[in-house]
Amino acid sequence: MTRIKLVIVPPEEFGRMASDYIANRIIDFHDRRPMNIGTATGGTMEGIYGSLIERARRDDALANALQTVNYFAMDEYVGLDGDHPQSYAYFMRSRLLEPAAVSTSRLQLPNKENVEPAPGAGGCISMYDQMMTDCGGIDLQLAGIGTNGHVAFNEPGTSRDSWTRRVLLSESTISANSRYFSDPSEVPREAYSIGIATIMRAERVVLFASGKNKASALERMIRGRPGDDCPASVLTLHPNCTVFMDWEAASKLRPY
Ligand code: F6R
Repeated sequence: MTRIKLVIVPPEEFGRMASDYIANRIIDFHDRRPMNIGTATGGTMEGIYGSLIERARRDDALANALQTVNYFAMDEYVGLDGDHPQSYAYFMRSRLLEPAAVSTSRLQLPNKENVEPAPGAGGCISMYDQMMTDCGGIDLQLAGIGTNGHVAFNEPGTSRDSWTRRVLLSESTISANSRYFSDPSEVPREAYSIGIATIMRAERVVLFASGKNKASALERMIRGRPGDDCPASVLTLHPNCTVFMDWEAASKLRPY
């Protein structure tokens, strides 16, 4: 029996309500210690971060709290430096940190130095995972879902014992990401990605999905048995996981 919570909202309210969900968690946490948030990138998160910034402009409590958060990116392409406009370092700086006046020193990303010397494969924790632990662990992990059921860059077939490591992207992910590159040959084939075990260790996970093109992946994730063929489905075993979606993404979910 799955324990995940489902939140289904109108498409036109998705960005605002999703960002309010994040904002309220951050404000509630603010007095405890610097919060550690695992961050995702991509089209879904771009809109949500935009709404979060809008709210921070009129909400001092949120603006102040955002500045004390430690941000741990869930993935980064191999071979793109942080100034490349398609790198996830650039995405996080330009879509969230700089507009919110957050010091870029608060952002960590998986990279050659903190992953390759001790890759999180075969059940062994990586240096990047250890960095999260040393900060107190991830309090809130944000995630999106790929049309093939990937979460972060954990492609179908990924073991649930995976930690942060260097991964090969699937053909469907490469083709989905090619919309951001002028030439398909520029799309990176590899990335550093946190693992399923990394995500499962977070205190709270929220996965965001909008649009009809996510409906089949969500149906598989939520209605199917948790399995490595759909890495996101393993999140349904997490004790505190919310799937936040719009009606279109939820359109293939039926009541039991
Ligand atoms: C991004 C990431 C990916 C995306 C997913 C959805 O950091 O890890 O798993 O969250 O591919 O991307 P969009 O929102 O562009 O459909």
